[in-house]
Amino acid sequence: MAQMIHGFITLFALSLLVVALTMSPTFAEQPGKSEGEGEGEGEGLTLELIHRYSIRSPLYSPNLTTVEMIKQLVEISDRRYFEIAMSLAHGSRLMGVRPIVAHDKWLYMVKLGIGNPPTFTRLHLDTGSNIMWTQCAPCRSYFPQLPPLYWPAKSRTYRTLPCDHRLCAGYPCINNKCHYEMKFFDGTYTKGIIAAERFTFASNLGGRSEAVDGVGFGCSKESSSDMYPRTQAVSGILGLGSDVRSFLMQLGDRAKGRFSYCLVPLEHTGQSYLRFGTDVERIKHAQTTPILPKHELEVYSLELKDLSVDGRLLRLPPDTFKVNRNGTGGCIIDSGLSVTFMIGEAFDALVHSLEEYFQNYDLRKIEDPRDTGLELCYKKPRGFSSYPTVGFHLRGAVFRPKAKSVFLIDEALGTFCLFVRKGEFTLLAAVLQQNFRMVFDVRKRKLTFAEENCARD
Ligand SMILES: *[C@@H]1O[C@H](CO)[C@@H](O)[C@H](O)[C@H]1NC(C)=O
Ligand SMILES: *[C@@H]1O[C@H](CO)[C@@H](O)[C@H](O)[C@H]1NC(C)=O
Repeated sequence: MAQMIHGFITLFALSLLVVALTMSPTFAEQPGKSEGEGEGEGEGLTLELIHRYSIRSPLYSPNLTTVEMIKQLVEISDRRYFEIAMSLAHGSRLMGVRPIVAHDKWLYMVKLGIGNPPTFTRLHLDTGSNIMWTQCAPCRSYFPQLPPLYWPAKSRTYRTLPCDHRLCAGYPCINNKCHYEMKFFDGTYTKGIIAAERFTFASNLGGRSEAVDGVGFGCSKESSSDMYPRTQAVSGILGLGSDVRSFLMQLGDRAKGRFSYCLVPLEHTGQSYLRFGTDVERIKHAQTTPILPKHELEVYSLELKDLSVDGRLLRLPPDTFKVNRNGTGGCIIDSGLSVTFMIGEAFDALVHSLEEYFQNYDLRKIEDPRDTGLELCYKKPRGFSSYPTVGFHLRGAVFRPKAKSVFLIDEALGTFCLFVRKGEFTLLAAVLQQNFRMVFDVRKRKLTFAEENCARD
């Protein structure tokens, strides 16, 4: 019995570890900062990030088993990966309609208020999206959502934008209103009006709030009923891309094109925060690598040159991570997925090198014990902890994630697997980034990062 309980506890801890990242938005009030609404420029901003399966999420389910959770996270990662792949191949995520795959593929959300008085809702956080949008009542068609619907007519701060507004550039003008329409590769869509509103970010601490006025967003009047088929937790998307329409760029001098996060593994109780502008803290012992010129899809790309295992470079051919004309290749950083992906040749070389490494320890290779689609798995001897460091050699920097971010270590089963999948391009995902402070400076186009205990953020 004691054995079973112990097994259960480690299993549960593992599930938290796998989920790894937490994001949810309350606004942590900064000490010494003035409170109230509509503050001036250069103030910075902080949002709490809510991980899909964290205790702060409406999707939190203490009964979800580790296996189910890992499977879901792998599935979500696959869907998101597929969508990015389609976008890279076709130039934009807004064109072309593909056979339906379930759209429900987000990992983090933020909570915010729209309008005055504010209607509180949750938006799915997407670093690869430019436009922020939410469902607006009355709608012609919509997907079910748990947060209350926002009614522009009941808000004192709602206004439509004239068609010559810079946020409307390239969008159709109907009855002097600027319209938008987005079709996703999974066949889902949203359409409506580009408008401006006050967005409020509430703090748990003492009921204070901070507001940002005049933020342009898509007020969705029509959307696919199956856009978020399973979760209903969110009412739209908050984009952190580098286009003028993204929430990040609309914050202007308040964000200065800068945002940061430090993702807490879920087995820790700390919160993860999304910080903008002056709220982005200075980091020590940081490394910096350029963010490459933007894709049409607002993904953030890095120049990855080589990998290393236990300090030994794999010496991959120089063009291993180059971007191909058909949209394959390249290296993206995205916190919307759990599982990291690696382009074929590099994946094979990495697996080969890890096999050599673990041979020295006489470890026994096994099939993925949980059937989650991971390719390299081992039986883990009791007490084994000699995992190699896997290095990602970027231009000007080496990213060395923690072993427990690279390997899915299952203490209950006594196994571990490489938490990386083979793909058509390389993508550094959320779990890999946990316990690192990542600072994106979109104006200067650089990424600065350093190891940190994110639970202390
Ligand atoms: C979780 O399991 C407990 C005990 O088996 C049960 O009482 C509870 O209703 C379950 N909760 C959900 C959300 O399924
Ligand atoms: C894309 O281009 C690369 C390099 O030219 C090639 O190896 C790969 O097979 C192509 N992939 C697709 C899906 O066309």
